[in-house]
Amino acid sequence: MARQPRHSLAARIMARLDQLAAISSSPGEITRLYLTPEHRAAVELVSGWMREAGMTVTLDSAATVVGRTSGTARGAKTLLLGSHIDSVRNAGRYDGCLGVVLAIEAMAELKRLGRKLPYGVEVLAFGDEEGVRFPKTLTGSHAIAGGLEPNALDAEDESGQSIADALRGFGCDPDRIDEVARQSADVLGYVEVHIEQGPVLEDEGLGIGVVTAISGASRFQVEVRGKAGHAGTLPMPMRRDALAGAAEMVLAVEAVARETAGLVATVGRIAAVPGAVNVVPGDVNFSLDVRSPVDRTRRGGVQEIDKRFRTIARRRQLTVKLIETYNEKAVVCDQRLIRHISAATERAGFPTIGLPSGAGHDGLAISRLCPIGMLFVRCKGGVSHHPDEAVKAEDVEIATRVLLEILDKFSPDGRTLS
Ligand code: GLV
Ligand code: MN
Ligand code: MN
Repeated sequence: MARQPRHSLAARIMARLDQLAAISSSPGEITRLYLTPEHRAAVELVSGWMREAGMTVTLDSAATVVGRTSGTARGAKTLLLGSHIDSVRNAGRYDGCLGVVLAIEAMAELKRLGRKLPYGVEVLAFGDEEGVRFPKTLTGSHAIAGGLEPNALDAEDESGQSIADALRGFGCDPDRIDEVARQSADVLGYVEVHIEQGPVLEDEGLGIGVVTAISGASRFQVEVRGKAGHAGTLPMPMRRDALAGAAEMVLAVEAVARETAGLVATVGRIAAVPGAVNVVPGDVNFSLDVRSPVDRTRRGGVQEIDKRFRTIARRRQLTVKLIETYNEKAVVCDQRLIRHISAATERAGFPTIGLPSGAGHDGLAISRLCPIGMLFVRCKGGVSHHPDEAVKAEDVEIATRVLLEILDKFSPDGRTLS
């Protein structure tokens, strides 16, 4: 009889991910946005698991949960682990949460084994990786890396509440956000486990992979202005219909991305004002997200999209304005960390493969502080940002064992990294 594989660590991880998935602002789906009551509930749950795993837990001024385990060596540096606990709307249950829960479980396993590490470890549960509620993102990881833009906390959600006010309501002190920043000299690196959110690992028949780079991204709020009018009386040639113009612009976005190798571009949200069945839309706002692993390609794509928007607007007597809300350069993962993670994978008995990430991650922000490395876990059908997101327990077990192997070979001075 074939031996049943044991997924003892993964079983607990999967159960905890189900618990987190139950925290949602909309029944029947998973929606957990930054600084909402659902985020608060997730903070409490994760904090409890961190304490159980022997960590000292704090909530920093950007609402990142920090679970710390000190190292035994004097003056030891700290290795950062973690991911995010916010979600997109109607999300899957693994994006972000997997990396947080898995890192906690690895630390819990070390505690069970009585194994103390010479260096410090902090597991970070960020609250704003998705950038869904506010037109800013990576607030927690930028704060830790000391890279927050000066007015980042002024960004407002649709109800007009700023990040700063929402932080106050959450019990955090935005006036002390600068104190969250770490010194590079104190940090060994940042390692994040995340679902792949794409099809490569499944295609290769592999459970895990080592990330080589993270695509850069630009995001804009696009405002198209025409003139509202009566849907029954305004003759077609006299119309300045902002929505018809915006529709052409959406197709232009798609065309530019299709024409450009290595570029992806998306309009994910659109709203017409006044938004009535019998009114020609006068104003339209839509989001634009442009990404590429090559910054030059991304910048060129944005320029071309902007040019085509202006041509469309001119022809239709509209105005168009692009307001940049996000701009992150592509980041290449640290070569020594890539080697270290690959070696740990091989020692754990699994083949390694390197692959880039098209999705954004907190590592984009953290890379300004310290070397970053990521381990991807295969996801079913490459599906993510969707309730059908799924991972196999056996892959989660492998990733946890590999993370334990990674932790095992770190040293306080980082010399055993390579
Ligand atoms: C976050 O998941 C992003 O890549 O948008
Ligand atoms: Mn994510
Ligand atoms: Mn995501």
